[in-house]
Amino acid sequence: MVLTRKLKNPRAQHNFVGRTCSILAVGSYVPERVLTNAELEKLVDTSNEWIMSRTGISERRIAAKHESTSDLASHAAMRALERANVSPSEVDLIIVATITPDMPFPSTACLVQRKIGATRAAAFDLEAACSGFIYALEIGQQFIMSRTYETVLIIGAEKLSSIINWSDRNTCVLFGDGAGAAVLRHRPDAHGLLTACMGSDGNKADLLCMPGGGSACPPTHESLAAGLHYLRMDGKETFKSAVNAMFTAATEALRRCELDITQINCIIPHQANRRIIDAVAERLNAQPEQVFVNLHKYGNTSAASVAIALDEAVTSNRIQRGDLALLIVFGAGLTWGAAVIEW
Ligand SMILES: CC(C)(COP(=O)(O)OP(=O)(O)OC[C@H]1O[C@@H](n2cnc3c(N)ncnc32)[C@H](O)[C@@H]1OP(=O)(O)O)[C@@H](O)C(=O)NCCC(=O)NCCS
Repeated sequence: MVLTRKLKNPRAQHNFVGRTCSILAVGSYVPERVLTNAELEKLVDTSNEWIMSRTGISERRIAAKHESTSDLASHAAMRALERANVSPSEVDLIIVATITPDMPFPSTACLVQRKIGATRAAAFDLEAACSGFIYALEIGQQFIMSRTYETVLIIGAEKLSSIINWSDRNTCVLFGDGAGAAVLRHRPDAHGLLTACMGSDGNKADLLCMPGGGSACPPTHESLAAGLHYLRMDGKETFKSAVNAMFTAATEALRRCELDITQINCIIPHQANRRIIDAVAERLNAQPEQVFVNLHKYGNTSAASVAIALDEAVTSNRIQRGDLALLIVFGAGLTWGAAVIEW
């Protein structure tokens, strides 16, 4: 097939010799259990009015006790593979982006491999917090471009409810569980992923972290009593950094493609806070109808966030083949990123 539209592919400017990489299909999964703001009012000193006005979140999904991150990830992966008409045995590589792995090791990606029967695949996890899906996309596409692999399965999956302090109103209202997946392959009729940029600032690592449970602070009775195994966040500073980093990443991605924001059909920002999304959109001079938002239903699902939103944008026909989508992410690390995709 012949490309119908002339587009600037920035990868072509950098001695691009490989193949392009497209998203064949996406899939997502959220657990059944809905946790509403009204229920949170009974847990901590908060109100539906405060949560809605400060965050835009109305409810979130919470995984069942028996459901782990690899279960959520496997459901999302199977949906994406079925839609792509690709069998698990065709997958060459599985990358799972998560901050809530089933366990420190083996990787959640290996557990997903076992659950979906992707027997030929290599599998590993990556950790870039809420930016993980864009990191996985950029890393995954390198293997397609270089002709190392034909089929790469990337997944963002989180059971954040397992690291939330349910008595801390500053954080427990913000997060939820879920997973999203994408099947990457070369498609001769599309540019696919035009560019992806990633960034990090380790100097701001303390803004959003889980201090306990790793080698710096192995779990002890004392660390548990101090709540070091829970997610911690400086909300105000995180908010400011998020707006700046997402704006910078999006601007850089558009610049590389020589695209103007008006040419983007759908903007999918990380779904952390409605006010962050609105502030980024305003700085980008984007129109509200360009921006896809579903955080009222799920809250912040970290690495799963843009993956679930992308799936919902595609299944609701908000994004159609040939459209240009701009994905923008931000997370702990700090990390950030943006990607421009010709769908
Ligand atoms: C967390 C966040 C919603 C708080 O909003 P904010 O406008 O910054 O509010 P503040 O931090 O100034 O808190 C204002 C007051 O509300 C209180 N508050 C915090 N959470 C509350 C809740 N769930 N219900 C009611 N009151 C709450 C605070 O204790 C504070 O009270 P005080 O003034 O008596 O101390 C906002 O900072 C935010 O979204 N930050 C980024 C979070 C994020 O996206 N993290 C993930 C990035 S990937």
